Amino acid sequence: MNSTNNTDGVHGEIRVEAVTKSYGTGPFAKTVVKDCSFVIERHKLTVMIGPSGCGKSTLIRLMAGFERPDSGTIQIDGRPITGPGKDRLVVFQESALFPWMTTMDNILYGPRARNEQNAQTQSKADFLLEKVGLKAFRRKYPTQLSGGMQRRAELARAMINDPDVMILDEPFRGLDAMSKELMWEYYSGLYEESHRTNFFVTTDIDEAIFLADRLIVMTNIPTRVRATIEVDIPRPRSLSGIVENERANEIKMQALSLLHEEAMKSFSGGSRAAADFIEAYARRTAKTPEASRAE
Ligand SMILES: Nc1ncnc2c1ncn2[C@@H]1O[C@H](COP(=O)(O)OP(=O)(O)O)[C@@H](O)[C@H]1O
Ligand SMILES: [Mg+2]
Repeated sequence: MNSTNNTDGVHGEIRVEAVTKSYGTGPFAKTVVKDCSFVIERHKLTVMIGPSGCGKSTLIRLMAGFERPDSGTIQIDGRPITGPGKDRLVVFQESALFPWMTTMDNILYGPRARNEQNAQTQSKADFLLEKVGLKAFRRKYPTQLSGGMQRRAELARAMINDPDVMILDEPFRGLDAMSKELMWEYYSGLYEESHRTNFFVTTDIDEAIFLADRLIVMTNIPTRVRATIEVDIPRPRSLSGIVENERANEIKMQALSLLHEEAMKSFSGGSRAAADFIEAYARRTAKTPEASRAE
């Protein structure tokens, strides 16, 4: 793949500024994103982590141009986003391969649909198949692939289109732990090869830290940025390396404590059950450190 395309000039910088988005009207109105600002820096892998239901997918739909913010602006490379564009490619968790096409045909779908299939796209497909470890499965159909293989094929199918920015919404959710870790290695390998601008959304802290150059921690709903953490851990990263990395553990503790605070806030507005939960948690943390460690 021609990675130099992505390192010349400005490519894929997304600037979200003071964005607010609500659904419904009157007494049923629900503000999901409120006064939210952040930047997806070009040629970096930015990971967003936040509690389930906080508004991450809503932000992605706004960045993809499928929906418009109520107020605030979103720009890509200085241009306002007014609708979907070829410069951004979104991989949703629900994305699926076409079951009637082989792995190779699925990967070549984008170029074919644009009538751009040629020797170059063919060699790009071969390169990507190799990169995601599916060369031997090029002629197989999706039902003949494992869940992890299907996700890898989906990554290749997205990457062949060479978007300025890849946006991924919990793409590995639902995979078993082993396949997930394998995906992290394939995906970070692909990223390290191209340094394409990537925006990756997850609720999994280990996934977030393994992958990220920058980690954006979100508040609960209505969501905005709670903290941005530079994940200054050298690449290429390995699973064993990251487990032993002190900085990785430090970042994990910092992010977890922020996420925990956000989870508590979401309870505190609510029910009797929530109040009980908070009370029980307070009793637990009031113990001596030795006692809690022994649990
Ligand atoms: N089209 C919509 N209409 C009404 N409510 C919505 C709509 N889209 C999302 N929401 C609400 O916004 C909240 C955040 O959803 P979402 O962005 O999917 O969160 P996340 O991706 O962080 O889990 C949820 O409470 C959801 O019910
Ligand atoms: Mg979501």
